[in-house]
Amino acid sequence: MMRLIDFLVLLQLAEWGIAISPPQLVFQTPNGQGLENLAARPSSKLLITSTSSPTLYTLDPTAASPALDEVVTFPNASALTGIAEYRPDVYAVAASELNVTSLMAAPGSVAIWSVDFTSGGTPTARRAARIPQSMHPNGLSAVPGQPDLVLVADSILGEAFEVNVRTGAVRVLLQDAAMTPIGPSGPPPALGINGLHVRAGLLYFTNSQRATLSRVPLGGGTVELLGSGAFDDFTLDSEGRAWVATNPGALTLFTQLKNGTWEEDIVANTVLNGPSSAAFGRDGGRETKILYVTTRSGQLLAVDTRGGDA
Ligand SMILES: *[C@@H]1O[C@H](CO)[C@@H](O)[C@H](O)[C@H]1NC(C)=O
Ligand SMILES: *[C@@H]1O[C@H](CO)[C@@H](O)[C@H](O)[C@H]1NC(C)=O
Ligand SMILES: *[C@@H]1O[C@H](CO)[C@@H](O)[C@H](O)[C@H]1NC(C)=O
Repeated sequence: MMRLIDFLVLLQLAEWGIAISPPQLVFQTPNGQGLENLAARPSSKLLITSTSSPTLYTLDPTAASPALDEVVTFPNASALTGIAEYRPDVYAVAASELNVTSLMAAPGSVAIWSVDFTSGGTPTARRAARIPQSMHPNGLSAVPGQPDLVLVADSILGEAFEVNVRTGAVRVLLQDAAMTPIGPSGPPPALGINGLHVRAGLLYFTNSQRATLSRVPLGGGTVELLGSGAFDDFTLDSEGRAWVATNPGALTLFTQLKNGTWEEDIVANTVLNGPSSAAFGRDGGRETKILYVTTRSGQLLAVDTRGGDA
């Protein structure tokens, strides 16, 4: 059954040459525990974080009855936020004692953990770095071509940290007014840079309070504004398009046109309740076109970006 609104969205998108299916619910946390971020393993099994738990979860979205299972629980943490694969099947995860009311991490609590699945047996976890000055670690990105480095967004400081997960060295890579929150005078949430992802030497990032998607050369330079909306985290696809979790309940697709301008389309606006992040599946042709979306209301959804009435 397709709802009229979905049908109209599909009709509009078809006109633009984009066809995606309405989001399908894969899993809902029983107590509504919010889901924050995710990464897809080579098998398409998902790794999922929550700001209300120090446990990294896994879920097989292709299972008949998907369930959240514990991978590892980190010490001295209450929240997990960004996660990214920085070497094949090795992931960096941001952990902190995060007060979800004040949106502040307890001083000194922020750590980047590395979780390694390459042995094939029980994954091993080690604390790869501490970021003592961090006030709110949020999105996390690998850096293509730099297998020891990850970038971590700080939503309060308005910075992107570069973390060497081999040596534990941390430095501020980028700091820009486009990354800072507006502050108490602005709309909630009082979070600046949220998601961040690197592609072709450029850092793409959202700013939640300023409601922007932007990009900037990794080495610094002019920040280019791509578009506006109530954005959370996002993913970049193989064509360089950005699929952005958009509040209160939508998914926005950014496509760069031939003349260089960015087209911004809402490609899903049903079922989603507080989308927080998105990642494509990986195992096989179908899975690589399935976009998995987490939400702060505890949903995990699958969006078939190939279209059709799923
Ligand atoms: C956790 O915090 C306690 C108290 O501050 C400290 O003694 C302990 O070493 C910490 N554990 C880890 C793994 O950091
Ligand atoms: C979290 O922040 C709120 C608002 O600032 C404060 O009232 C509360 O005591 C804090 N909770 C903890 C556990 O520190
Ligand atoms: C770029 O192309 C789009 C679609 O053809 C058009 O609407 C837009 O005005 C163009 N922008 C510029 C700056 O040329």
